[in-house]
Amino acid sequence: MRIILVGYGTVGRSLTDLLKIQINKLRRTHGFYPRVVAVVDRGGAAISSEGLDLETLHRVKVEKGSVSFYPGVGVAGISALDVIREIDAEVVVETTPTNIVNGEPGMTHIKEALISGKNVVTTNKGPLALALPALMDLAEYNNVLIRFSGTVGGGTPVIDFAKECLNGEEIVSIRGVLNGTTNFILTEMEEKHVAMKQALSRAKELGYTEEDPSMDIKGIDSACKLVILANWVMGLRKKLEDVEIEGIENLTLKNVEERKRRGELIRLIGEARDEELSVKPLPLPKHDPLCVKGTLNAVTFQTKFSGEKTIVGPGAGGVETASAVIRDLIRVKAALMKR
Ligand SMILES: NC(=O)c1ccc[n+]([C@@H]2O[C@H](COP(=O)([O-])OP(=O)(O)OC[C@H]3O[C@@H](n4cnc5c(N)ncnc54)[C@H](OP(=O)(O)O)[C@@H]3O)[C@@H](O)[C@H]2O)c1
Repeated sequence: MRIILVGYGTVGRSLTDLLKIQINKLRRTHGFYPRVVAVVDRGGAAISSEGLDLETLHRVKVEKGSVSFYPGVGVAGISALDVIREIDAEVVVETTPTNIVNGEPGMTHIKEALISGKNVVTTNKGPLALALPALMDLAEYNNVLIRFSGTVGGGTPVIDFAKECLNGEEIVSIRGVLNGTTNFILTEMEEKHVAMKQALSRAKELGYTEEDPSMDIKGIDSACKLVILANWVMGLRKKLEDVEIEGIENLTLKNVEERKRRGELIRLIGEARDEELSVKPLPLPKHDPLCVKGTLNAVTFQTKFSGEKTIVGPGAGGVETASAVIRDLIRVKAALMKR
């Protein structure tokens, strides 16, 4: 399967590293022969119809800053859009930064890939939170797939669990801790008795936050993930603007400690129920399965016939998210085989 990889940062590089490690197993168990025919970053691209050497690719990026310095096949200045249009491939893996204002540049990359008949695997939440229903329609119209397991829960298969393991059930509601950074901050506050500012500094020190942590703290990242989950799993057609959002920015150590004395923990909960979507800090009994610690994510699906199920696991990380991309690629490969 020929792959165009757009974005070669944490997730993109983890993906090529993981493909190198897993290649024999992927061939043996899934008959999956990935061939990375183009990689694009902001400096340009490396393009080879025979497949790029992943070792060289990684080395060039680390040493020279852009894949466009790849010897012989590097092209400086070429845009991702031109690569998607001009290079033959079965799938485009889109891993550019999340932008929740207009979804760009990922929105255009994804649309162009779908229009040009290429399947899409993405970890980019922006375009999906803003326009998942329209992108699904576009994929269907062009008879290709769009898959995005890595957008929610990193490597923890939250989306796949609901979509595949709960297949045939009716999901009545979704409730979850969808952002590891805010969960880490709340855990620090309740366990180490530190103020939010200090807990946030610690999260920054450990590399858990973005340069601008407001996406996490203000609940926007959680809201993006909730929209993706609710649309895909519950069949809704919601957008980010439909979510009532309250972050954790106004919580004090006093709030956290008062709740703790009553046997409760505060968690930033994304909830979809009866067509209503919200993200807000809520006190939960400390034995609730959503009271996970540190950077973990946890999501409870309430089903109509078989009760509640909760899935828990790490919510981010390069290699974890890359493992979700590989799951999606295997799924695309299986769909291609059926055609
Ligand atoms: N990291 C995680 O744990 C994680 C988990 C789940 C989801 N995600 C999502 O996955 C996506 C990628 O995350 P990341 O951590 O890998 O981000 P990152 O390290 O910032 O990498 C982003 C990559 O996109 C490239 N890029 C930016 N604009 C571009 C453009 N116009 N054309 C081509 N390439 C462009 C950058 O190029 P340069 O290298 O030249 O700057 C960089 O290689 C984001 O949407 C993020 O929200 C990340």
